[in-house]
Amino acid sequence: MKEYKVGVIGGTGMVGQRFVTLLERHPWFRLSAIAASGRSAGKTYEEAAGGRWAMDAPMPENAKKLVVLDAVADAEKLAGQVDFCFCAVDMPKDEIRALEERYARLECPIVSNNSAHRWTEDVPMVVPEINAGHIQIIEAQRKRLGTKRGFIAVKSNCSLQSYVPALHPLRKYGLEKALVCTYQAISGAGKTFQRWPEMVDNCIPYIGGEEEKSEKEPLKLWGTVQDGKIIAAAEPLITAQCFRVACQDGHMAAVFMKFQDGKKPSIEQIKADWAAFRGPAQELELPSAPKQFLHYFDEPDRPQTRLDRNLENGMAISLGRLREDSQYDYKFVGLSHNTLRGAAGGGVLLAELLCAKDYI
Ligand SMILES: NC(=O)c1ccc[n+]([C@@H]2O[C@H](COP(=O)([O-])OP(=O)(O)OC[C@H]3O[C@@H](n4cnc5c(N)ncnc54)[C@H](OP(=O)(O)O)[C@@H]3O)[C@@H](O)[C@H]2O)c1
Repeated sequence: MKEYKVGVIGGTGMVGQRFVTLLERHPWFRLSAIAASGRSAGKTYEEAAGGRWAMDAPMPENAKKLVVLDAVADAEKLAGQVDFCFCAVDMPKDEIRALEERYARLECPIVSNNSAHRWTEDVPMVVPEINAGHIQIIEAQRKRLGTKRGFIAVKSNCSLQSYVPALHPLRKYGLEKALVCTYQAISGAGKTFQRWPEMVDNCIPYIGGEEEKSEKEPLKLWGTVQDGKIIAAAEPLITAQCFRVACQDGHMAAVFMKFQDGKKPSIEQIKADWAAFRGPAQELELPSAPKQFLHYFDEPDRPQTRLDRNLENGMAISLGRLREDSQYDYKFVGLSHNTLRGAAGGGVLLAELLCAKDYI
């Protein structure tokens, strides 16, 4: 496999630090450049991010001495020195939209963690195990942008990674609706307990914009590509409540699901479908793909955030407590690592898919 030179835009932030860590020993990708705001530009990465390094692993040596570029002012320079960039920035949405399009037009593919382009009709939003086929829309996007190489591909919101992978193989039974409550870690807000002391011993029943994303984004993942657009699916209907809880990493979801009359599978069938589920990420043996995407725990008190979030390098989904429900058909619990599978790890896996399929 070719070696790809990679940039990380927003490399000083919480998700950016994850990207930098994941790229340290990646078999295909070499970290070649880091960009952030004007506040960090001109400093070495160590100077810019050392004081807020939030990863368990130490800062990679190959990153420390890189001089941080200004993501906006140095766009042409950055685009010219890498094969593609990951992007995870905290900026107003319209500025992120413009920034990502600018890089794409500079023929630098962007694999984004940001939500700004998730609803752009010709931008694929991909979980490689679920809807890898959506990347074919990139041809239509390149036509619109007038590019040969450049495009934008995005990953979906972190919250839904705990339940959509489990619902996906059950759609064949006529999954009609799902009710979801998510319990989301503070790293999802780019924070640590040190920087957000109000979260110690606390639970906040509000995360701005999160419930809408949790309800709507799955329908784009399950959508179809038609005439240069991705048309969202109409079902299953999802209703969500999203809470911020006092965990550093790991989003948990309590899920209720209802199937069409007469199509309800048995508990054994559901567990068998989960155990057997493999997607293109596994079939293509992408380096970051978990061997077993969905793990079911029979113990009644699993999955647990601290015990299970790092399963298969934080790229697998942990499931448990599947049982009958008195109002819906079944209920269960899901858990995923929000900055690995839910953010940087999901971005790296998407980039691997795009390389394996020759889009990058
Ligand atoms: N945290 C998660 O679990 C998670 C999951 C999925 C998606 N996301 C999304 O990923 C993005 C980043 O989140 P985060 O948690 O990593 O945020 P964060 O820790 O606050 O980091 C924000 C990054 O954006 C950069 N930035 C801010 N203003 C900028 C500007 N004007 N120009 C260029 N760069 C600028 C910052 O650079 P400086 O250091 O120079 O200020 C920093 O590198 C957001 O869109 C978020 O919604 C996060």
